[in-house]
Amino acid sequence: MKTPLEVIGRKRDGHEHTPEEIQFLLAGYLRGEIPEYQMAAWLMAVCIRGMTAAETLALTDAMVASGEVLDLSAIEGVKVDKHSTGGVGDKVTLVAGPLAAACGVKVPKLSGRALAHTGGTLDKLESVPGVTVDLEPERFIQQVRDVGLAVAAQSPRMVPADKLLYALRDVTATVPSIPLIASSVMSKKIAAGADAIVLDVKFGRGAFMPDVASAEELASEMVTLGEGAKRRTVALVTAMDNPLGRTVGNALEVQEALDALAGEGDEELLEVCLRITREMCALAHVTADVEKVLRSGAGREIFERMLAAQGGHLEQGLPVAPVQVAIKADANGYVEAVDALEVGLAALELGAGRVRKEDKVDPAAGFVIEAPVGARVRRGDALVTVHARSQELVDRVATGLGGAWRLSEREVRKPPHILARVDKNGVTRGG
Ligand code: URA
Repeated sequence: MKTPLEVIGRKRDGHEHTPEEIQFLLAGYLRGEIPEYQMAAWLMAVCIRGMTAAETLALTDAMVASGEVLDLSAIEGVKVDKHSTGGVGDKVTLVAGPLAAACGVKVPKLSGRALAHTGGTLDKLESVPGVTVDLEPERFIQQVRDVGLAVAAQSPRMVPADKLLYALRDVTATVPSIPLIASSVMSKKIAAGADAIVLDVKFGRGAFMPDVASAEELASEMVTLGEGAKRRTVALVTAMDNPLGRTVGNALEVQEALDALAGEGDEELLEVCLRITREMCALAHVTADVEKVLRSGAGREIFERMLAAQGGHLEQGLPVAPVQVAIKADANGYVEAVDALEVGLAALELGAGRVRKEDKVDPAAGFVIEAPVGARVRRGDALVTVHARSQELVDRVATGLGGAWRLSEREVRKPPHILARVDKNGVTRGG
């Protein structure tokens, strides 16, 4: 067998690894025999040289094999998971999950916490008084059988390699590599045990991927990895230049999801939620009129049952921020863009997300977008209402946040939101 130095050198020089070389590196790293500086050098070589489809598959397999794989065979039918690569105001799981379950799909969803400026589903759920996201496998499986849906935290026993590698990537400027992101996300999805996966791959100012082309490439790699592991996988490529929907922040987004499940809400949010739900139904071979199910309120009922099953007391009300201040337009015009990155960073500053892993989030903090893209505003109209713990925090974010709104003198048409669909047959452009 080659030494770690020789294997790293092969990637540096642009050669293709054998699966054995990848297993050797990962296993050696996990056992503590290959030090972090060597692993970091290899990650940087991967960032620069890339990986072939076969290498990415071998890395994903080795990551999955580093821990436990959830056995969901006790749940009848096709189990469908849903995953987003992360965005600002992305509460799609909270709408599409219950809606798919109301259509008859079994939805076992393991999720993550907030990463950088993008909100995490678990933090959103935990803003509901009493909710727990730490479910042991038996309870998780029983809840999917009873309610149709459970959303819980991934066990640390699953894909321990990703935890270590991600932490190392985070401090060595090696996060933005398509094969590394694809294997990180898909190893967790494969270990989570569902039969089929719908991915929402976001691009734009508020997302990991800067443009539609790189999002399509990531989506294609993830679909290939899912299919390679015998999981039917479909990805939608969606825009994240502007925040999704009308709220950003944990409790605010839960309320928006509840409203959307009653059929009321932002058009774009409903469009993407309906589309993801249809894809989930198709993968589960469930025939349903998703819009009709939405109008019936059955999705909202499932969401409420899920929260109650996880210890939630929605009747106690969601947390409300003590200070609510509107930021106003200083000119007349039409909203051309709302910079999702600026809004996400401001939300982070307010405490709606976390800068360090151990930070506690403020469940009530966030924003209500009063003037979304396309809206006509007059000088003095509210653009956004800040929900914060103190006036001092409002003052801290006010300037950056106000600057996120770009006004135009001319009427603005909303750009398309769903740009492409990717499955095992390739990319189809258009909504
Ligand atoms: N999310 C993940 O889980 N992994 C990555 O590498 C990037 C985003």
